[in-house]
Amino acid sequence: MFSFSSQPDFCGRRCVWVNGPVIVGAGPSGLAVSACLKEQCIPFVVIERADCIASLWQKRTYDRLKLHLPKKFCQLPKLPFPEEYPEYPSKKQFINYLENYAQKFDIKPQFNECVQSAKYDEACQLWRVVTVSTTGSTRTETEYICQMLVVATGENAEGIVPEIDGLQDFSGEVIHAKDYKSGEKYTGKKVLVVGCGNSGMELSLDLSNHNAKPSMVVRSSVHILPREIMGKSTFDLAMMLMKWLPLWLVDKLLLILTWFILGDTQKMGIKRPSLGPLQLKNQHGKTPVLDIGALEKIRSGEITVVPGIKRFNTNSVELVNGETVEIDSVVLATGYRSNVPYWLQESEFFGKNGFPKTPFPNGWKGKRGLYASGFTRRGLAGASADAVRIAKDIGKVWNEELSQKKKRVHTHRRCISTF
Ligand SMILES: Cc1cc2nc3c(=O)[nH]c(=O)nc-3n(C[C@H](O)[C@H](O)[C@H](O)COP(=O)(O)OP(=O)(O)OC[C@H]3O[C@@H](n4cnc5c(N)ncnc54)[C@H](O)[C@@H]3O)c2cc1C
Ligand SMILES: NC(=O)c1ccc[n+]([C@@H]2O[C@H](COP(=O)([O-])OP(=O)(O)OC[C@H]3O[C@@H](n4cnc5c(N)ncnc54)[C@H](OP(=O)(O)O)[C@@H]3O)[C@@H](O)[C@H]2O)c1
Repeated sequence: MFSFSSQPDFCGRRCVWVNGPVIVGAGPSGLAVSACLKEQCIPFVVIERADCIASLWQKRTYDRLKLHLPKKFCQLPKLPFPEEYPEYPSKKQFINYLENYAQKFDIKPQFNECVQSAKYDEACQLWRVVTVSTTGSTRTETEYICQMLVVATGENAEGIVPEIDGLQDFSGEVIHAKDYKSGEKYTGKKVLVVGCGNSGMELSLDLSNHNAKPSMVVRSSVHILPREIMGKSTFDLAMMLMKWLPLWLVDKLLLILTWFILGDTQKMGIKRPSLGPLQLKNQHGKTPVLDIGALEKIRSGEITVVPGIKRFNTNSVELVNGETVEIDSVVLATGYRSNVPYWLQESEFFGKNGFPKTPFPNGWKGKRGLYASGFTRRGLAGASADAVRIAKDIGKVWNEELSQKKKRVHTHRRCISTF
């Protein structure tokens, strides 16, 4: 099905014509779109900057990571998790599942190729996608030319490193959460964890479990919910309640139940936002933290909560409350960003923040064959839903074009036979 021609153009760049879409990114989103296309026998090319599938999971996450939603909300289309998997699969189990997924649907990405730019060429009405390959010491540029482009580079493509006064003068180690693997090497060390999202909370817990002394910076407010309420996943419960009740009421119920289970988090120095957890997620994309043990450690004093940072010194940090805390290392659990604005030369569908401008559920399809998968801030469930929609839409376009081509051939043959 592939119509692949491969010739260097006048810039020394390899040119490849792709029949079907180019998918950028071989994470869960890119794999899910690929599987759904494969089922319809539609050819495609997947381009991945890393040397493996699901590079976020394989290379940029910590060892103790587990899926924090029940497995039924995390499986990709067309392949359920193995029955023997636990309710919350580990990172290793999830990676194995994804490897099997890629194998089952025979998805073979172009590895070690980073997309540098993608642009719609109005003159020929095609997308031009330029990649740079980093295999070995040779640098190869390739231009893929295609009718459809699926952006699947993820909401968490790059770690955010904030500018904080004096950070460059701090003499200890400073890493981003994406480079943290385990608390093993921090035993006995005073570690400042900047940020209290799911990463900040889990890394603080991991550090404490390895007998380090973590201080976690909470500069504003955050919703912490139990992962489970009365044996049922909080997420599952929320989904169920949302079928019957308005969002604000579900939020109220969740917060009351949370208060009974976790107590008053304000007393631990963690303020709650004024908007409820689901409303906050819906309106501002801010994910609530699902507690898996960090709160208990905060209560017992094994994790210290500190307010915002004023500045860093050589071996300490000054906080906004005037306190100075001595520290050995810093872990920046300060979140991630999309990298789409760095390479996609398009501003109608994608906003400056690298997310589609159109809100859910319509942010998966742009114009001129442009699609976005995995940008709904709804985790793996959102990525799967996008993939199904995108593949269906591409299938429709593909089949229409195929039948037009067949008609043209048929008419052409009839014309020839009449002569
Ligand atoms: C620590 C952590 C834990 C998480 N846990 C959960 C969870 O339990 N449940 C959940 O639902 N969600 C979770 N998430 C959110 C998670 O990011 C997504 O669920 C999932 O990984 C999204 O898949 P994706 O394919 O959209 O993006 P990614 O997994 O980020 O994959 C994108 C791929 O695109 C590649 N890429 C990026 N830029 C380029 C480029 N220019 N050229 C070529 N390739 C490129 C990347 O290398 C990557 O392989 C977690 C996120 C983090 C950071
Ligand atoms: N087990 C899991 O499934 C799991 C684990 C980890 C992460 N995740 C997911 O991965 C995604 C990213 O999570 P994340 O926790 O890495 O990022 P995040 O949710 O964006 O949280 C970033 C945190 O850093 C803080 N921050 C940023 N800049 C700061 C600064 N200069 N000073 C002090 N604090 C600062 C933010 O505070 P403000 O709120 O004040 O801005 C926030 O608390 C989320 O979707 C999350 O659910 C899932």
